[in-house]
Amino acid sequence: MNTRKTYENTEKLLKTYGQQHLLSFWPELDSAQKTAILAQIRQLDFEKIQDWIAKYVINYEPFALKADLIAASSYAPEPVDSQNRQKYAEAVELGKKLISRGKVAAFVVAGGQGTRLGFDGPKGNFPISPVKNKTLFQIFAETISAVSAKYQTTCPWYVMTSPLNHAETVEVFRSNDYYGLKKENVFIFQQGTLPNFSRDGKILLADKAEIACSPDGHGGSIKALWQSGAVEDMKKRGVEFLSYWQVDNSLINIFDPLFIGLHVLDEAEMSSKALIKTGPMEKIGNFCLIDGKVNVIEYSDLPDELAKKKNPDGSYVFQLGSIAIHIISRSFVEKLNAGVLSLPLHRAEKKIRHIDKQGNFVESEGIKLESFVFDALPLASNSIILQTIRSEEFAPTKNATGVDSAESARRMIVERAASWLEAAGVTVPRKKDGSPDCVLEIAPSFALEKEDIKSKLDRIPPIKPKDKLYLE
Ligand code: UD1
Repeated sequence: MNTRKTYENTEKLLKTYGQQHLLSFWPELDSAQKTAILAQIRQLDFEKIQDWIAKYVINYEPFALKADLIAASSYAPEPVDSQNRQKYAEAVELGKKLISRGKVAAFVVAGGQGTRLGFDGPKGNFPISPVKNKTLFQIFAETISAVSAKYQTTCPWYVMTSPLNHAETVEVFRSNDYYGLKKENVFIFQQGTLPNFSRDGKILLADKAEIACSPDGHGGSIKALWQSGAVEDMKKRGVEFLSYWQVDNSLINIFDPLFIGLHVLDEAEMSSKALIKTGPMEKIGNFCLIDGKVNVIEYSDLPDELAKKKNPDGSYVFQLGSIAIHIISRSFVEKLNAGVLSLPLHRAEKKIRHIDKQGNFVESEGIKLESFVFDALPLASNSIILQTIRSEEFAPTKNATGVDSAESARRMIVERAASWLEAAGVTVPRKKDGSPDCVLEIAPSFALEKEDIKSKLDRIPPIKPKDKLYLE
């Protein structure tokens, strides 16, 4: 490469877009650094960036809600009438058939930083199980393995990381021998990044030869699935559906025949699981319909008066919360990538470490942009919502303590195990406040769902108060 020539062209390009400061340390750089910064700049799409700066960085207008926002409808967790019962039964059958034919793959998004949890390293490596201290990744891997065994099939697992944690995540999988899964059935790939900006629309430098970037949000998964070759891999394997979830959910039911079956029966392209929020202000996304299309409005964007709006029966109008569990058809990912991918960007004002004009490291408020996967929902030709039960499949680990913490997730893992055992007739000692007076952990190989317990009653010892019991 003729560095001088490339430099001149790049400088011209930067001047056109008012970003020439990106080369201001040029005279100080060695040749490897020069090549590196030129390559980074040449990768940027300045037309798009100019548009983003105008829309999201400088002339940012706060999120505006459409006036005609109405509640989205959903399937109840259990069938409500005989017609429904028939459809649910048909969906379960279909879902099971699709899983056993290898048409469904697992897909976890794990590119986030997990800053709130204060855990160093990929969040999937966070130890969470109450007896064995298994990590989130291990629980997911064992679930995938148990499902593959149950349906006598191979369920591939796609894992999305980001440049922030890719190398570490790959190392975690390698050093754990892929948790017993075959390496070729675990496809780990990276999402893209977007540059960070100062409030006045300048791209920030992380160092003299490095642009400050951050992961492009879980919405980046749609593009990354395509660009990484994951979609191609699915095609080769005959996988048609992705079961999508977030790395922080320790109770995830990855392969749910009912959910998969309803998605397919209703010819949906992207579907979601929902639950009834604990209250109007719970910090999760809200399902609603805009122009007849399913949308998720983040809790921070839903005005309080709408969040608290009630139906005549006293229930909240926007009571359906998003728990970031989706079925995504492979054909939908292909369709989105074939057109001009147009997930909107969201702006976040965050403290960003970068260098100032003098080349000193500073941390100041800047703008990060990211896209959200749920913004693909309104682009789907059809999209269904299945309500689920919180205690059965949603225990996120977001914070160090309190709500949605490791502590609450562990408690929920024990609670679910206790309720599964009791449903099969096992006596579980409970404290006065009703919580289990023992620590329980059920391995996915022992039971993937409540119904699996009944056939294994002979393997369950009597449970005494304060016992620690692991069933595998
Ligand atoms: C998210 C959802 C919220 C939902 C809640 C349920 C958003 C904006 N909000 O909140 O609607 O109710 O979870 O728990 O998503 N990730 C990436 N790459 C990125 C950013 C995130 O892979 O660039 C992954 C993370 O690793 C994680 C997931 O996406 O698995 C969620 O990210 P996080 O930042 O934790 O979202 P929340 O604010 O918790």
